[in-house]
Amino acid sequence: MKIINIVGARPNFIKIAPIMHRMRKSPVIEPILLHTGQHYDIEMSKRFFEELNIPTPDISLEVGSDTHAKQVARIMERFDDVCDREKPDGILVVGDVNSTMACSLVAAKKGIKIIHVEAGIRSFDREMPEEINRMVTDAITDLLLPPSRDAVENLLHEGHSTSKIHLVGNIMIDTLMDSQPSIMKSEILQVLGVEERKYALVTLHRPSNVDDITTFKRILKALAKIQERLPVVFPVHPRTRKILENPELKSLVNNMTGLKLCDPLGYFDFGRLVAGCRMVITDSGGIQEESTVYGIPCITIRENTERPITLSEGTNELAGTDTAKIIRFAEQIIEGKWKTGKIPELWDGHTAERIIECIEKHLW
Ligand code: UD1
Ligand code: UDP
Repeated sequence: MKIINIVGARPNFIKIAPIMHRMRKSPVIEPILLHTGQHYDIEMSKRFFEELNIPTPDISLEVGSDTHAKQVARIMERFDDVCDREKPDGILVVGDVNSTMACSLVAAKKGIKIIHVEAGIRSFDREMPEEINRMVTDAITDLLLPPSRDAVENLLHEGHSTSKIHLVGNIMIDTLMDSQPSIMKSEILQVLGVEERKYALVTLHRPSNVDDITTFKRILKALAKIQERLPVVFPVHPRTRKILENPELKSLVNNMTGLKLCDPLGYFDFGRLVAGCRMVITDSGGIQEESTVYGIPCITIRENTERPITLSEGTNELAGTDTAKIIRFAEQIIEGKWKTGKIPELWDGHTAERIIECIEKHLW
């Protein structure tokens, strides 16, 4: 059974690593790896292949950045030719980025089976580009592989048959657990001059937070206050880096002596920073999950989350973009007044095994 595994953006690489490693051992699956080129900077792409020992992609579409419609169209056109040439039996897509949806649409039109890892998560916020990608992908997927029971419920509510849904757990946590020795060897705390539990870690890249200057200013004003109490490390995503060129934002940032901006980090260095920080302040999907597994307090700079289990069982709270609320939450964490949380069911490092078993059983 020939399966094309699709990746395009940073979180996809982290999710595909354990799947590729396990799939290569399957006696019945011939795995192919395709990189759409949605992310292309070395620190957003190549570095993860090296660190996580992901095989070099067999096929690269090199689509680059553009508006969503143009990027999706370019991926679809190029992937259409790939499918004609390779004639796969199935494709496996992860997460909710444009590459996930674009390749799924091509496969569905050609009658090629689709496997979606991380199916069923919903923010119920259609202004989020990823929510559209999730809904479209799941609507045409043959094997829906959700990470948690809330995602199973969403899929059932949308009318999917139980025979297509298999709860497999959270694939990102396989990589987190497999990488612990390398993560704990990282010397990034010394490199950045921060001490265990004495810094906050920030990431921001959601268009709703960083593309709108007024909103971004509200968030930065909260960081300005927090960095007076403890250093703030902020690896800057390329989308955010561009926006920070705005003179008003630049001067806000330049006035913060406790703020340490850096380029996006590799998986091991970043993992070490999550494991060692006092708190995470983020709008990332994956980092809400990782902080829950590390038991690190997480303030999410969003009004909603497609990962509600990190709120109900984990260490996550939603602060939105309200300056005072973000500061209040950070103070609560500094004062030790935060929930402890637990690791959700099946976030156990064995999700890739369950995924491959499921494919072998249901598609083979
Ligand atoms: C994408 C995903 C988002 C995911 C994020 C992970 C969609 C709709 N969005 O958002 O779900 O959380 O990746 O990081 O698929 N850029 C570079 N170098 C790169 C990649 C991007 O400079 O290697 C810049 C370009 O200016 C580009 C911008 O970042 O226009 C945004 O990139 P894009 O892939 O469109 O969206 P992300 O914000 O990265
Ligand atoms: N990450 C990383 N380096 C960074 C920031 C994030 O390796 O500088 C990792 C992080 O540990 C997580 C993943 O990237 O595994 C999250 O990706 P991102 O926040 O880009 O996307 P999202 O999860 O929001 O889709």
